[in-house]
Amino acid sequence: MCGIIGGIYQNNITPILIDGLKYLEYRGYDSAGLVVLTNDNVLQRVRAIGKVVNLENNINSEIINGTIGIAHTRWATHGKPSTKNAHPHICNDSIGVVHNGIIENFLELKAQQQAQNYIFTSDTDTEVIGHAIHQALKKYGTLLKAVQSAITTFQGAYSLGVISPQNPGHIVIARSGSPLIIGLGDNGNFIASDQVALISITKQFIFLEEGDVADITKDSVIIFDKNNIKVEREIKISKLKNWQTSKGNYAHYMQKEIFEQPQAISDTLESRITKDKVLTLAFGHKAEIIFKKIKHVQIIACGTSYNAGLVAKYWIEDIAKIPTHIEVSSEYRYRNPIVLDNTLFITISQSGETADTLEALRVVKKINKNIHSLTICNNSESSLIRESELIFLTHAGPEISVASTKAFTTQLVSLALLSVTLGKCQQQISQTQEKVIVNGLNHLPSLVAKALEQEDQIIELANTFKDKFNALFIGRGSMHAIAMEGALKLKELSYIHAEAYPAGELKHGPIALIDKNTPVIAVAPNDELLDKLKSNLQEVKSRGSQMIVFEEESSKVTPMQDMNILSITNNLGRITAPIIFTIPLQLLSYHVALIKGTNVDQPRNLAKSVTVE
Ligand code: AGP
Repeated sequence: MCGIIGGIYQNNITPILIDGLKYLEYRGYDSAGLVVLTNDNVLQRVRAIGKVVNLENNINSEIINGTIGIAHTRWATHGKPSTKNAHPHICNDSIGVVHNGIIENFLELKAQQQAQNYIFTSDTDTEVIGHAIHQALKKYGTLLKAVQSAITTFQGAYSLGVISPQNPGHIVIARSGSPLIIGLGDNGNFIASDQVALISITKQFIFLEEGDVADITKDSVIIFDKNNIKVEREIKISKLKNWQTSKGNYAHYMQKEIFEQPQAISDTLESRITKDKVLTLAFGHKAEIIFKKIKHVQIIACGTSYNAGLVAKYWIEDIAKIPTHIEVSSEYRYRNPIVLDNTLFITISQSGETADTLEALRVVKKINKNIHSLTICNNSESSLIRESELIFLTHAGPEISVASTKAFTTQLVSLALLSVTLGKCQQQISQTQEKVIVNGLNHLPSLVAKALEQEDQIIELANTFKDKFNALFIGRGSMHAIAMEGALKLKELSYIHAEAYPAGELKHGPIALIDKNTPVIAVAPNDELLDKLKSNLQEVKSRGSQMIVFEEESSKVTPMQDMNILSITNNLGRITAPIIFTIPLQLLSYHVALIKGTNVDQPRNLAKSVTVE
């Protein structure tokens, strides 16, 4: 994920670009750059490694001045963070381009362009965009037509901003799989990846749709759809006031972070899927070669991240057919594990600094040099990111509450993308199967938003726990891991002792715990194990427990005395169900904690990042 800003303004655009980039740093900050078209009609560029402030310092010494410009803050996918890989990229002094996303076929395009004597000065996939537009500009004469033609050769996901001295007075932008908005001002027009970057300049925004290309001047905005037909897009007035890591209108960070999940999930999917496929390059340019030869998967994590990994075990074995093991980091690192060649060693961590997980990675690299490591992490600056071969960032944004919520669901989304990618590389999944899963992923943000609407009913259910000291969570298949996450959330937030079991295991011991003072919480998607789960519910009920069942609408669990059934939604699949059923469990724990009067955001004895053993 990278951040783009640009504009055509009546005065020098540079301060607006710098200011906007600072708001976009949450999208990546390993390098930044900008290019303006000067009054002499020359592209003038400055780039710097690291945060935007480094770029700002460079600019003070160079005096960059022009009314048209584009800028970028980068999170590296192709090519390590360096000045030469920072955007904007310039082709033949004639095209300046900023790009967010991944051009999947860049190696193929690069080979063609090298044969035509185009020079490459970076390791990025973005330069092929500049060269393709340069080539098309010679043929078509206008930047708009050049961009419309060039993008037909790109596969993958992108948002682009392009300027050229050959067509001064214009910025041409394109959106396919990555967000881009237009801000309409009194004294100019602007573009950005996110409205937060422009909110101090304008409140009027146009949100581009998939496949849109727009030709922007200081006084006009003309938009074309994916068929190059001129279209009108609605102008929306933003209500956004400020961009802070504050609680906003929420009582606690945890509540805010629970409600941020639709956005966090959509940010995690951004530029990594199209409408029907997952982009393998989202895992880095070495991923395809590595994923093709993987024979085993070993997942290592702690706490909530472990629970996400447990769901992934079901997915990876089911979809990619690769034997997958999972273990908590604190055990794995000390037990002299056998590590086979061609193992993909996956660490999952919100913080990327969890001592046990980091040490497990270091240990395994010493045991067997022929493994490949991948981390799924929410902190781009963390040790796990630095020490792993492949990296995949969850884009949950800062998670302040000690109890993980949006970090968990975005880990699940990332692991779903991984499962599909492994399945493709191992030739275990057809295009049709991939399309079905991606369709479900594309609907996730709205499904999560729908599940969040049930907060009022969950507040009522939370009252059940007012005088309770124990609870039991049950589920089957991957939903067992969601039951574990539900139990973990309840115990860490409300200090109620909570256990989670695979529902079929109850009769082997834990059923002895059940009485009227031990509520049982079950998660019941309409999957192949539903009938088995229904039998387990009968077993529990006949022991006199109070029950809460979160069911998929079509599951039709038979109502019984002392049983509350809450229907969540319908048409869930093996990927979407675990993510959606997490939502009511998070809300339940949050509201039980409020009833119990505990410290929601900072529960006793816990730390957000456990950097000690
Ligand atoms: C979850 O609510 C907890 N805060 C905790 O279990 C956490 O998931 C665990 O400490 C692992 O942290 P990590 O994801 O930063 O590695």
